[in-house]
Amino acid sequence: MTDREPLDDLVVPEPPDGEGSATERRRRRTVRRLSVAGVAIALGAVGAFAYQQVKPVVDAQRYATVSHEVPKAPRLTPAAGETLLRIDPEQSSLTYEVDEKLVGQKAGTAKGVTQGIAGDVALNEQALEKSRIGQIVVNIEQFESDNNLRDARIRQDFLQSNRFPLATFNLEKLNGLTGRVQEGREYSFTIDGMVTVKDQPATVTWDATATWEDGKLVATATTTAKLSRFDAGPISIAGLVQTEDDVRLTLKLTAVDPATTDIASTVERAVQPETSGEGVPSYSRTIAPILEKQCASCHNSGQFGAHTLTLDTAGDVKAVSDGIKTVTQAGYMPPWFASDKGVELAHKPDITDAEIAQLAAWVDAGAPLDVDPATKLRPTKEAASLLPRQDQKLYIDTYTGSTQTSNDYRCFVLEPEITEPTFMTGYTFIQDQVAQLHHAQVFHISQEQRENARAMEGEGGQPGWSCYSSPFIPGRRPDRDPGKPRHRDVGFAGQANLVAGWVPGQAPVIFPERSGILLEPGDALVLQIHYHFGSSAEPDRSGLAIQLDPDTPDVREMRVVNPLAPVEVPCAPEDADEPLCDRDAALEENVRLYGPSGAGNQAGLLALCGHTPESLTADFDGRIARSSCDLVVPEDGVITGVLGHMHTIGSSLRMTLDYGTPAEQILLDIPDWSFDWQMNYGLAKPLRVKAGQPLRLECSWDRAKAAGRVPKYIVFAEGTEDEMCFATYSLIPDRQDR
Ligand code: HEC
Repeated sequence: MTDREPLDDLVVPEPPDGEGSATERRRRRTVRRLSVAGVAIALGAVGAFAYQQVKPVVDAQRYATVSHEVPKAPRLTPAAGETLLRIDPEQSSLTYEVDEKLVGQKAGTAKGVTQGIAGDVALNEQALEKSRIGQIVVNIEQFESDNNLRDARIRQDFLQSNRFPLATFNLEKLNGLTGRVQEGREYSFTIDGMVTVKDQPATVTWDATATWEDGKLVATATTTAKLSRFDAGPISIAGLVQTEDDVRLTLKLTAVDPATTDIASTVERAVQPETSGEGVPSYSRTIAPILEKQCASCHNSGQFGAHTLTLDTAGDVKAVSDGIKTVTQAGYMPPWFASDKGVELAHKPDITDAEIAQLAAWVDAGAPLDVDPATKLRPTKEAASLLPRQDQKLYIDTYTGSTQTSNDYRCFVLEPEITEPTFMTGYTFIQDQVAQLHHAQVFHISQEQRENARAMEGEGGQPGWSCYSSPFIPGRRPDRDPGKPRHRDVGFAGQANLVAGWVPGQAPVIFPERSGILLEPGDALVLQIHYHFGSSAEPDRSGLAIQLDPDTPDVREMRVVNPLAPVEVPCAPEDADEPLCDRDAALEENVRLYGPSGAGNQAGLLALCGHTPESLTADFDGRIARSSCDLVVPEDGVITGVLGHMHTIGSSLRMTLDYGTPAEQILLDIPDWSFDWQMNYGLAKPLRVKAGQPLRLECSWDRAKAAGRVPKYIVFAEGTEDEMCFATYSLIPDRQDR
């Protein structure tokens, strides 16, 4: 191995010895530098998806319980010639229907109903066109569907109906109703009016039919609206469900004479019967053990799935029981995206079909609890052993950003309390204001850099300082101490001393095989957080919990190697004439957006991998584009973990050792790429590798996943709508320099 330049944090291996002329080698070195810039920002892009899927925690029990009180609506006073009628909630309903696609299942329709409806009608029997409809008020927090998790999610998230429980309708115009009312005749007409949901008004026209009979007005009105109009969708949950934007609303009303009919003040829905006994699995004996083994380590408070759904007690489980059935039957939970091809991966979930069926049978029986709802759900010992210890919890000082800077990169120094050289062997990112956390990165800095950072801290009167791609602190880096044997960077993505990262979809990490990052007393960590602010910027106190182990000979330093491949995804043939479908125009646009790296990275990667745009697109079929790069392992050691990264139109990714030889071994195979689940995979057994051993990275992209975007020729660049073919593997080198 030749020694490397300071930029070598990104390990793009040299060609095997003897290959290529001196010029060739120089060219490759330039290439290496070029691609470093790209990778330095790659993590920014990894995080770019994050806010799309960050959702508030489902506080299961809280959102599962709603009051069934009927709302109050302004009353009408009948004028001469008018008959006063009042909506009878027990004979009325509002229904929503949205087409949805659930992972692994046929498209279906989500349907929810509320009966919390109030309002008055003043019917003019002589001149229908003069009839008045008072404000109609609907309690949409009471929407109930066949899935209690969906209801909870809609309440607290998409409709936010726990905050805005009441929707209103104000009539503007009745069209097509005239003359004297005829008993028993069905009238068809349209109603124009203003619907207000989440405090956002929108004009809506309803198609209606109505009949006046026996002193009762019975009406049905239907309309189609856009969820996006009310900032309530289309709904997309990290690969689990996708809905259409159109929602069909059906309002069924029966209005009666309030003087002669009692109007109910609550509309309690019939409670789902619970059945227990034969054939129904017991919560305590069957259900809880499955969840404690498969789910609790991620969904207990403070754990990595808890930002979406917290399951701490039996009551929590019951409150979202339908959702638990849905996600396990769909194979969405426990999450796992790697195929069984290739080397064995650690901690593959082993939930069985029988267990999934038991969960479903219990849910179908009404989710009966045979324990107190407060009974804790705790991970099994084995499941808990996957979680790093939180030996020190390091928090940032409370930081309040500004909605003026919606993408805000902020660096904060964290100071581990150590008095001797100590290994960081695992970490947990502590999420505070989840909805505004986009991604985070952790850098290791020396004591000298820590001192120099003081001048930058406190920028704008707030903790930390603003820092785009990395902290840029002057001073000796921890791996460049002339007085010491050379340390090795653990550059997660090619950035100097980047040692850890967090994006939604990533669990806490224990570095495998007793390896880690060596911290000297006085060294510090910099936590860089990418905040994404919407309409508000809440004070945030996120942090990092670290697992520490003493510097003993059995703990080893690790490095992260970062194979890359170029990206050439032409437009679909029907879009070929669009301006940005021209490759040169697309590259120019990238330079405008990202600076020189917007085009330079791709050029560098093509050269590094020995491809041209023509060679990579030769068999593009109009939809699936492919790329690959043949690289080599940089030094002898063992590989302990792998990770793949692409953006939103990624289709598949594979990393293979000794590709195309009888010794071929697939390190990671992700046949159906999901942007929302970029997980770290540990190897079940460390895999011995040699310097120079061939390694191929392959990616494919599916143009169809870019439907609806402005068509553009896509190359390797940083934006979420650009693409990458990017992987990492953790390598514990045999040569340990400390
Ligand atoms: C490796 C950690 C992990 C494990 C194990 C795990 N989950 Fe999850 N789960 C997550 C994460 C992270 C999310 C959030 C994804 C998202 O944004 O929708 C999630 C989402 C969910 C959701 C969707 C919530 C919503 O409203 O979007 C349900 C339901 C769920 N998990 C249930 C389960 C069940 C049941 C199990 C066990 C059979 C399980 N999970 C195991 C990490 C995990």
